[in-house]
Amino acid sequence: MSYQPFHQRRQELLEQLPDKGLALIPAAAEVTRSRDTEYPFRQASDFWYLTGFTEPDGLLVLMKGRSEGESLIFTLPRDPAMEVWTGIRLGQEEAVPRLGVDQAFSLTTEVDEQLIELIGEASEVWLPLEDLKLYQRYLGWRQGVRSKRKRSATLPDRLVDVAAQLAEMRLIKSTDEVDLMRQAAQISADAHCRAMKACRPGMYEYQLQAELEHEFAFQGAAAPAYASIVGAGANACVLHYIANQSQMQSGDLVLIDAGAEYQGYAGDITRTFPVNGQFTPPQKQLYELVLKANQEAIKLTRPGTTLEAIHHAVLRILTQGLLDLGILSGDLEQLIEDGAFKPYFMHGTSHWLGLDVHDVGRYRLHGEARPLKPGMVLTIEPGLYFAPDRDEVDPCWRGIGIRIEDDVLVTLDGCEVLSRGVPKTVAELEALMGDEDAANT
Ligand code: GLY
Ligand code: MN
Ligand code: MN
Repeated sequence: MSYQPFHQRRQELLEQLPDKGLALIPAAAEVTRSRDTEYPFRQASDFWYLTGFTEPDGLLVLMKGRSEGESLIFTLPRDPAMEVWTGIRLGQEEAVPRLGVDQAFSLTTEVDEQLIELIGEASEVWLPLEDLKLYQRYLGWRQGVRSKRKRSATLPDRLVDVAAQLAEMRLIKSTDEVDLMRQAAQISADAHCRAMKACRPGMYEYQLQAELEHEFAFQGAAAPAYASIVGAGANACVLHYIANQSQMQSGDLVLIDAGAEYQGYAGDITRTFPVNGQFTPPQKQLYELVLKANQEAIKLTRPGTTLEAIHHAVLRILTQGLLDLGILSGDLEQLIEDGAFKPYFMHGTSHWLGLDVHDVGRYRLHGEARPLKPGMVLTIEPGLYFAPDRDEVDPCWRGIGIRIEDDVLVTLDGCEVLSRGVPKTVAELEALMGDEDAANT
């Protein structure tokens, strides 16, 4: 992969630093699962965003106006004995041409000496303020400056949260990132289609999870972007149900919320469909109400509007629908104001999507809802959930949980639905599931 997009992002961050401003961006560390076994490694999103480098434990350092070069990386040193077990490390010599940085140093033998030198020259320091481990190391390096320079030491007196700066950059996706997000969404969509075609009464939820995750892996996605949710019947009313252990019954709906992580970027799609391929009349009524909210929200997604405005439109549609179905009664405006929908729709309509499934970026600016801009990617995910103990509603609605979630890119004049590769109307779902040819492929 070319280092160009990562180089460009480092330049953008450098442009925001003052002269001799120093930024520290750490890689993720490996986490021990037991004894000498680790959990699967996932690079820290900010470090990935600026380097594309997948080894653990590195540190990216940027210093504005440094004559020997403004971008430095500290990486694990080559170690043939270790590499037999854990794979080839890039090492320092290769890091410069491969990552496009100016200099590379050893993380084990050179980092303290270099950082003491750099902090002694820095005007201010940008680091992720919530990273206690890095902060403790930073304090150690400051002490190192004092010990070395004694009274001539001038230490930086200002810390800035580099994570907050990067969050604003990451919120607006570049064309390279949009391409990767299109692929993450397409792989996720293909996986949902595969699960729909495979679904039969009597199967277990984990078997649909296996279908989804087979498709992710088969298409080169590293892993699910979050724990896959496959909830049949009343399990669909548990928003983050990940046990996936129940047998699926004919007559129930199954809700799948699952997305692939492709080259670091997350897909996040939810579809809800009948286990036996045919909606019952009450299921269909509720489904079409959630679908209407999903479709209207997508129509509203364009530059200038806000997630708050989209959410309010969804609340209005769902509340009106619940009135029409006789599940709520009273005055529409009053019901909205009272939050009468909350027992049945208890989450937001949207979140940012990117390297993280709940991606970074502020939702409000100066106390106001933030206007959408081209390059933002968000989810639209209205739902309705009637848990079995909701005694106040007619029994025909109980045990039904429905969410329909799409991934949407804000474009110059509207939006592009990245997850459009998986159907969502009743007719499309019934056709896909009833297609015996599709079921046998
Ligand atoms: N999959 C988690 C969410 O939709 O936010
Ligand atoms: Mn989701
Ligand atoms: Mn989501």
